[in-house]
Amino acid sequence: MSGIDIIDFHSHILPSADHGSSSVETSLLQLELAERHSVGRIVATPHFYPDRHDIESFLNRRNAAWDALREASDSVKRPKIALGAEVLICDGIERLEGLERLCIQGTNVLLLELPFAVFKTEYRDSVSRLIKNGFQVVLAHADRYDPADIELLLERGAKIQLNADSLSGFSVRSHIKDWVLRGEVVALGSDIHSVDKKAYKRFDKALSRLDKLSMLDFVKRASDDFKIVFQ
Ligand SMILES: [Fe+2]
Repeated sequence: MSGIDIIDFHSHILPSADHGSSSVETSLLQLELAERHSVGRIVATPHFYPDRHDIESFLNRRNAAWDALREASDSVKRPKIALGAEVLICDGIERLEGLERLCIQGTNVLLLELPFAVFKTEYRDSVSRLIKNGFQVVLAHADRYDPADIELLLERGAKIQLNADSLSGFSVRSHIKDWVLRGEVVALGSDIHSVDKKAYKRFDKALSRLDKLSMLDFVKRASDDFKIVFQ
């Protein structure tokens, strides 16, 4: 859907920063796919696992990946990019020193991923404390989890990022529509990994679906309100 400039809020496009792209060449192909679908702004969100990574070396690796990609894409037309992270929640994550450095550039937005296996009720308190500490918590691909668990975090003030595939199928699940209508959905993501040729087709379809439901502007505005700094 050309002409609609909505942010891809969740992507794995930085070379060798996680399992999303194995090389600069792969990243350039990913950017080409986005460009072809008129996606003008992408947040690069490599995985940050608190049990495996420390913030300093994660940021060094992320920045080096970005430098390499920026240089290689110097002469090509590409979407603008902002750096962020997809941060896996853990017990006591709010106490992790330097956590604010993992926010999306120019914002206090933390893209927080929940584990798939177990939902701990303690996550509610972590989200409350993060928000009290000044973070805006956006739950990565909230569509993939038990909606009852997500509701517990929405009650504490978290917001939602949906993956495009939750909106690109034959039908949209009722709780997803409900989240959009309630204003809980502030971002849409491709969550692209590798050269997935369908990723931005799904993104495009998701935009069309939101448009058809008259919900597109709402999500777009919420995303734009974060004032993310793109390069
Ligand atoms: Fe992801």
